[in-house]
Amino acid sequence: MAQQEAGRQQWGSRLGFLMSAIGSAIGLGNIWRFPAVTYENGGGAFIVPYLCALLTAGIPLLILEYTIGRRHRASPPGALRRLRRPAEAIGWWQVAICFVIAAYYAAILAWAVRYTGFSVTKAWGDDPEGFLFGEFLHTTDDPGHISEFVPGVAWPLIAVWVVVLVILALGVRRGIEKANMVFIPLLVVFFLILVVRALTLDGAGTGLQGLFQPDWGALSDGGVWVAAYGQIFFSLSVGFGIMITYSSYLGRRSDLTGSALVAAFANSSFEILAGVAVFATLGFMAVQSGVGVGEVTDSGVGLAFVAFPQIISEMPMGALFGVLFFVSLVIAGLTSLISIVQVIVAAFEDRTGMRRVPAVLSVGGAVAVVSVLLFSNDSGLHFLDVADHFINQYGIVLAGLALVITVSWVLRRLPVLQADADATSAVGLGVWWRLCLGIVTPLVLTWMMVDSLTGEFDENYGGYSSSFLLWSGWAVAAGALVVGVLLSLVRWRHDAGTDGEPVPATGATTVETEER
Ligand code: ALA
Repeated sequence: MAQQEAGRQQWGSRLGFLMSAIGSAIGLGNIWRFPAVTYENGGGAFIVPYLCALLTAGIPLLILEYTIGRRHRASPPGALRRLRRPAEAIGWWQVAICFVIAAYYAAILAWAVRYTGFSVTKAWGDDPEGFLFGEFLHTTDDPGHISEFVPGVAWPLIAVWVVVLVILALGVRRGIEKANMVFIPLLVVFFLILVVRALTLDGAGTGLQGLFQPDWGALSDGGVWVAAYGQIFFSLSVGFGIMITYSSYLGRRSDLTGSALVAAFANSSFEILAGVAVFATLGFMAVQSGVGVGEVTDSGVGLAFVAFPQIISEMPMGALFGVLFFVSLVIAGLTSLISIVQVIVAAFEDRTGMRRVPAVLSVGGAVAVVSVLLFSNDSGLHFLDVADHFINQYGIVLAGLALVITVSWVLRRLPVLQADADATSAVGLGVWWRLCLGIVTPLVLTWMMVDSLTGEFDENYGGYSSSFLLWSGWAVAAGALVVGVLLSLVRWRHDAGTDGEPVPATGATTVETEER
């Protein structure tokens, strides 16, 4: 194991690590989820629960994941095993969650790739909704039953996977870091152009008023607080094991708390920028159609692939706007997808001792095959919708809850981890961190679970009547946990582990690369 540690890859610079962490955080969650979640949960008033969630759960968890990764220098299964052997199951659970998310996340990127091209000719004509569900996705009226393969989705999906696997095969420094160093500045430039264009559209003010008008009454609704915590989890990429993996390539002297603060605030700033761009644009559509902003507001698939195409058709120089929007979606999603797949690849690399390229080809290739098979058919949209709902509600949040309870209550490791983070960070963590992770986060996450489960049994998710589809959703969420536990019982080739002890620093390269 010591030999493997000595050869562990390292980030080339702190900036490279930060760009990659920010690239992982900024994704579809920022661009299509945040604006709609804010609008539906109190508008301007949503900033209160959002900031509370960021400060009491998002940032503390981010710092926790950074500290575990750097201290134990492995992807989640190995790192958590070194914390205490049985905790390895949580690590594998996170790996299984990443497998599910990566499979469908790539499909959305494939759609965005096609829509970049469609924007040029406005291929959707005057019926973007009919085009999306009919001509493009061939979505069946019988959810859950596959009767047709859809090549128009399959080939861009294969292309997305080829790009992701090539970047991962190049390694942490030459692949992931370099890609993020190029993609993130590019994304910021593209997005700033979009924001400026959106703000100069007729009706932009109406849209922004719709988004930011505070409804203070919403703050007394528990669901609004649950939405804020859910948004922060997905958007900051905490609870998936991504940050444990990325920080395992950090040097011993890296400033963890400072990096977490920079990544978190960069992510939130981008989120707000996305809210401004999306709502200024929706305001344009509302004014054109003579309706309220609420009537044109949508989230997820409806926002990006129905509402935006309609706006692109109506606005001057819409084709350019459309290309910029979909390219931004592809870049933001690609940098997140890379980080999600890296968790799976690194877990097998660490525990089996497999080399990088074979690990990428076998494990990454397996995710790609599942992704293409499940999401390039006429039921792909329904599978995607259900997998996304169940794995977010009962995967990420539950695994995050298991992690904080295990670390803070069962193993009582917060003081040790805090000392580790404080030793190299400019800002000390203080009692705030332990209080948030030991009390606030577990309580809020438990409440979120109860709230989600109650809603789940009150009515079928998405109004689906297909019990096969809904059972598949539950099976995916429960399956991730079962697979996690089973994989933790396997005797892997690299089974050595030092319970609770940090892995020693790997020598001069660590410090050199860190300080550059
Ligand atoms: N954090 C990533 C996103 O926002 C997963 O999409």
